[in-house]
Amino acid sequence: MYEARAMKKAESLRLAGKAVILAIESSCDETAAAVVANGREVLGQALESQIKTHALYGGVVPEIASRSHVTAVIPVVEQALIDARMTLDDIDAIAVTAGPGLVGALLVGISAAKAMAWAKGLPLVGVHHIEGHISANYIAHPNLSPPFLCLVVSGGHTHLIQVLDYGVYRLLGQTLDDAAGEAFDKVARLIDLPYPGGPTLDKLAEEGDDEAFVFTRPRTEGRYDFSFSGLKTQVMQRVNRLSQKGEHIAAADMAASFRKTVVEALVQKTILAAKETKAPAVALAGGVASNRLLRKRLEEAAAHEGIRLYIPPPALCTDNAVMIGSAGFYNLMKACPDDLSLNAQSSMALHLG
Ligand code: KG4
Ligand code: ZN
Repeated sequence: MYEARAMKKAESLRLAGKAVILAIESSCDETAAAVVANGREVLGQALESQIKTHALYGGVVPEIASRSHVTAVIPVVEQALIDARMTLDDIDAIAVTAGPGLVGALLVGISAAKAMAWAKGLPLVGVHHIEGHISANYIAHPNLSPPFLCLVVSGGHTHLIQVLDYGVYRLLGQTLDDAAGEAFDKVARLIDLPYPGGPTLDKLAEEGDDEAFVFTRPRTEGRYDFSFSGLKTQVMQRVNRLSQKGEHIAAADMAASFRKTVVEALVQKTILAAKETKAPAVALAGGVASNRLLRKRLEEAAAHEGIRLYIPPPALCTDNAVMIGSAGFYNLMKACPDDLSLNAQSSMALHLG
């Protein structure tokens, strides 16, 4: 009964080429909901961050994340609808992050999405979190459409992806070990910075001397691959040596030198890939895309090479539901919706073309 109704609704939305989507994101430590029209226009949004809770433990505690999502998800959805001056009756379809992420956390968003889809007979669309991050660019840049090259840099991913069409991707390169965000977080911990490490380190680095410490740029065999775990070890060794000698650790200088090395690697490979694949444009996505130096250096390099560059505002780079609403729309326009067996996936492959 539900399936037939939802499928019929999905078909009519596809024919019309329009849909107002209620989206939910709960893959990690933010509970977010948004109402997005036609993949491009934000009608309403709300976000409840768990940063303060997890800061007490120095990182995300999965069980606490799941429980916090449980209490936040309905109020956040209600708030997004209020922000959009809408009710569930105005919604055409429900999109939700299905993975990758923390399974318990994902399940909360998925369960809420399923309940609403079932109650209202609406199509349910599971979204890949990274596809969401890429799609943040469709919200921020109304003129951007595929094909383009995207550097996705988050806590779990460092991917250079060719976006061939909406929902069709080719992976050019990726990190062989730690993701860029993970490296930022681990190095932040090494120099005693509080959680969340990446943004804190980024801020501190603004006051530091980026030539105070010399770190070797990570090398990889793959032309477009990345590696950050060796760099993290270099920082660890410097910190250990200094503390063994009882010397002061200049945290701002360490942060600035580390940040510069990571950013140079990201920018160099992205520009190389853009030139070699003759990418019509380059976009940046993911939490690390809010890094001040990465934005600046990539802007400078792209301008120097005459490459068109798209960078979303910081609030659209870190986790949010607006990006899921955009990706959900393009999924709905291209493929059959999911059914109520949609499940959370801790790791999940992108649809590659
Ligand atoms: O995309 P995101 O919000 O969540 C994931 O999908 O992982 O990214 C979170 C990651 C964390 O590792 C965080 O430390 C990092 O992005 N991050 C930053 C900055 N803001 C967030 N890293 C460096 N500089 C920043 N300004
Ligand atoms: Zn993310």
